[in-house]
Amino acid sequence: MTGFLTTDGLSADKANQLLDLADRFVEVLHRPLPKVPALRGKTVAMLFFEDSTRTRMSFEKAAKALSADTMNFAAGSSSLSKGESLKDTTLTVNAMGPHLMVVRHRSVGAPWRVSEWTGLPVVNAGDGAHQHPTQAMLDALTARRHFGSIDGLRVAIVGDIRHSRVARSNVHLFTTLGASVVLVAPRTLLPPDLTGWPVTVAHGIDDVLDEIDIVYLLRIQHERGGGEVFPSVAEYVSRFGLTRARAGRMSPDAVVMHPGPMNRGVEISPEVADGPSSLVEQQVANGVAVRMAVLFDCLASSSDPEEESP
Ligand code: CP
Repeated sequence: MTGFLTTDGLSADKANQLLDLADRFVEVLHRPLPKVPALRGKTVAMLFFEDSTRTRMSFEKAAKALSADTMNFAAGSSSLSKGESLKDTTLTVNAMGPHLMVVRHRSVGAPWRVSEWTGLPVVNAGDGAHQHPTQAMLDALTARRHFGSIDGLRVAIVGDIRHSRVARSNVHLFTTLGASVVLVAPRTLLPPDLTGWPVTVAHGIDDVLDEIDIVYLLRIQHERGGGEVFPSVAEYVSRFGLTRARAGRMSPDAVVMHPGPMNRGVEISPEVADGPSSLVEQQVANGVAVRMAVLFDCLASSSDPEEESP
């Protein structure tokens, strides 16, 4: 694989191959020495032009667990403040010889541009409201490990879908793997045109709660204008928040997922976030194994993760 930019067009076979590999890396990460030599001699550059906790740290841990070296760029402490452009920043990092770049940027398409400028494999760690493909993969891994299969699962994605790259990546991946997806949001937090989206739509969480296997909650993306399109937080919570009372009406086997960061008391109550149906911590943990699988798939020349690449 030359990079990992989007789940749009990813085949079920390729997604399942990556998930199988991630399952192997979950086992590696539980060993006393949670490391394999697969990417020894390779260097992964992390270019995060937007803030991140989970994605950035799990790519770092994933690269190191594969014995790769890492180079880190953080926008806030970089020469961007002196006016350096995205292209010059990218070419500067490229001149230091990384083998792959992980890119997060607020602009849609930035990871594709980085790939064109450098000729390197690029992993999209989130571009604007467009795609966050490794988030979708870690969500799929978490759901598959919990339920055994994604085929036939009923997934509700609830919240600020309009501004969410996670929603876009997850709709593509979960439907490709055989799940059905319903989007639950006020009209103002849905994309203006859903033509071609393989989904149904509901406008209140109570309409779908008892027929769903996964309630996937999204925060309001204030940084992209999501907070300006409904009257008040209290009204939003009254129709879309997963409160303890609502969680009690879910099927006993249903689970709650969230990509983080969570806004407790808005889209999810603290009791639900920390409760027995929450898979949020498993999602974070599985992010490392999924990112190991993606980096290995992009960079390794051996098919065996236990072997050093020649
Ligand atoms: N889910 C996610 O992308 O989290 P971060 O912004 O902390 O990386």
